[in-house]
Amino acid sequence: MWKEVRLLLRGTYRIISGLNGFAYDFKRFLFYGGWRENLSDMEIRNYNTVMAYHGLEKSLSFKNRNPTSGWGNAERVFLRLKIAKMAGDYGYHDKAAKQVLMKFLSLPENIELEKSRKMILEMNSMEFDSDDVHGAILYPLSNYKMGILKHPEDFFLSRYSLREFREDIVPQEQIKRALKLAMKTPSVCNRQAWHVFHSNDSSIIKKALSYQNGNRPFGDKIPNLMIVTTDLKAFFAGSEHYQHWIDGGLLSMSIMYALHSLGIASCPLNWSQTPKRDKQLRKAINISPNQTVIMMIAAGYPKDVNKVCSSTRRPLEEIFSNIELK
Ligand SMILES: Cc1cc2nc3c(=O)[nH]c(=O)nc-3n(C[C@H](O)[C@H](O)[C@H](O)COP(=O)(O)O)c2cc1C
Repeated sequence: MWKEVRLLLRGTYRIISGLNGFAYDFKRFLFYGGWRENLSDMEIRNYNTVMAYHGLEKSLSFKNRNPTSGWGNAERVFLRLKIAKMAGDYGYHDKAAKQVLMKFLSLPENIELEKSRKMILEMNSMEFDSDDVHGAILYPLSNYKMGILKHPEDFFLSRYSLREFREDIVPQEQIKRALKLAMKTPSVCNRQAWHVFHSNDSSIIKKALSYQNGNRPFGDKIPNLMIVTTDLKAFFAGSEHYQHWIDGGLLSMSIMYALHSLGIASCPLNWSQTPKRDKQLRKAINISPNQTVIMMIAAGYPKDVNKVCSSTRRPLEEIFSNIELK
């Protein structure tokens, strides 16, 4: 009888704390989400612009494109470029957008149109350009083949979460190299709404980990710590209310694989925390309020001899089935 009451109370508590978490997330979406589409905010405009110019990039990349398509996105990009020009404040995606729109307007089917000429004229007076190549690029099969691993099992099955590292700190250049690799992670419309905070300062790491509940008893010996966040400003539609978790989770996994490819071990550290804990971390660490904390990642070099949890995987049959119509 008491056991049942205890279970019921525990379940009720969990539902209430879940509701508290949903309410907190909703409040953050309301305050910091990009749903207002305030295009005079440079960051919101950039996330919003990439949605439009990425549509054009897709249109440019199809072999048999409809020659009349893409104008909706072209006009959206053009409006945002005009706002960037007026603000005199441009981000990466503003510059990329200008190049993509220029390529779209220069297509044989568009270049002679009056509206294209007007847009190009105005864009020529915009004093910002990107150094990267945007739009659609030819990508030969040989480049795809460069990604084929001789022994993929060696790479994937040799990554383990490591919790006890060598004492020496991983140099920041190595961390940055891993992050550059990890940034090839796909993100919704290529918005890349990520931020990674990094420290190798033991007092800062100690402070950050004091709010995290999965680092005992190894937290005090972690050489490098990252906090992965995603920017709520990048998400506009109500249906995108979970997108920041997805994009941030994908980046986090890429970071761990990138570290692994460089001989650096890591351990993901969960941030499934209560609103109270999340607020406490934000009080102690400088994280702008529009950034959602996805997780922390501990990193360091493996020792000569390491002991890890075997953490074996379920049989594939338990997680695999064919897609079937009902
Ligand atoms: C989102 C996430 C949060 C995690 N949080 C913790 C944590 O707080 N502490 C910890 O020791 N391990 C944590 N882990 C590591 C898991 O326990 C580990 O990935 C799992 O057992 C599989 O083992 P493997 O990574 O060695 O393959 C976390 C993993 C993930 C993906």
